[in-house]
Amino acid sequence: MPDTAPAPSHAPIQATKPILFIDLQAQRAKIGPRMDAAIGRVLAHGGFVMGPEVAELEKRLSAHCGAKHVLTCSSGTDALLIPLMAKGVGHGDAVLVPSFTFTATAEVVALAGAVPVFVDVLPDTFNIDPESLARGIKTARTRGLRPRAVIPVDLFGQPADMDEINALCEQEGVWVLADAAQSYGASYKNRHVGSLAEVSATSFYPSKPLGCYGDGGAVFTDDDELHQRMMQIRVHGQGKDRNENVCIGLTARLDTLQAAVLLEKLSVFDAEYAERQRIAQRYHQLLTGVVETPVVRPDRSSVWAQYTIKSKARDRIVTGLAAEKIPTSVLYPRPSHTQPAYRSFPIAGGGLPVTERLAREVVSLPMHAYLNAADQDRIVDAVRRAVG
Ligand SMILES: Cc1ncc(COP(=O)(O)O)c(C=O)c1O
Repeated sequence: MPDTAPAPSHAPIQATKPILFIDLQAQRAKIGPRMDAAIGRVLAHGGFVMGPEVAELEKRLSAHCGAKHVLTCSSGTDALLIPLMAKGVGHGDAVLVPSFTFTATAEVVALAGAVPVFVDVLPDTFNIDPESLARGIKTARTRGLRPRAVIPVDLFGQPADMDEINALCEQEGVWVLADAAQSYGASYKNRHVGSLAEVSATSFYPSKPLGCYGDGGAVFTDDDELHQRMMQIRVHGQGKDRNENVCIGLTARLDTLQAAVLLEKLSVFDAEYAERQRIAQRYHQLLTGVVETPVVRPDRSSVWAQYTIKSKARDRIVTGLAAEKIPTSVLYPRPSHTQPAYRSFPIAGGGLPVTERLAREVVSLPMHAYLNAADQDRIVDAVRRAVG
């Protein structure tokens, strides 16, 4: 065709850019060069295990959330398991957990040799219901188990009712391990997640609000002795040196490379947190009256690990959005107490009716700090069309 040929009158249809559930590449576009330099520094110094970035990250996280001690580790699951091991939770003990959560919350209890007792959640915040928790403690005792700990989960990024839970647990003589895998960055009564319970655990899985480029986690506590025991467990129960093993432990360190990644991500985390608030607020304005939008109590904030709506038309929303190439995620369609691996464990008196209803009605929409207004409008329009 000669160079001077007129352009075809039918311009090609512009393909719409796919919407991602969590857009890690958008974040990379912002911090890529710094991130590459940070990774390059680790490659150059070669301290791949417990290199200087690990201690630096622990110091920075402690300053960021206010916990006296931060122990980074290999995953959010290990961040839950390590304190259970350090406290000697095991045979004959009951640990109360919500069923409406990721499987790791109950899994670590069984791994420690104790019995998870499943508790119901509140219909608006999705977090553990203190009344069901009180019933669950009774259920455990009726079954001849010793209630030792409670693991409230800050589901989808909002802290649980920590004052009520801590007070009830103190009265009952059980300790609290906050599963903050989804909530690092959120706050409760002007205190940060990480400092809301005797021990808290978070995850740095890549899709978490503060995520690394692989697996990672951290445990937070103000208790010196517990921190010391957890440091030992993180490295095979190591005592004063590598030739002494004072307790049974794990290989549960955070890789230096992941610590370097997290240090860079932490430097933009507060700005991303502000963006997440703005985007969640916009969803709220656009979706109120269309579906049930998530409720955040006035005395706390969510970090919006997920933006989770409720609707009786949930399945239509999932298929409707999929048809428009918009990803959604249903968390959690099969709560832990219904899973083959956990069916035999006890559930709190009164049952788990809210958990069972939520499993049918919830769906999470794309949510990340780089979600632009045009994409958000497309998502909202698709939800409107799906619910009719
Ligand atoms: C509530 C909850 N607890 C624990 C975990 C476990 O974290 P990880 O995947 O880092 O082991 C997760 C991870 O998704 C989670 O969402």
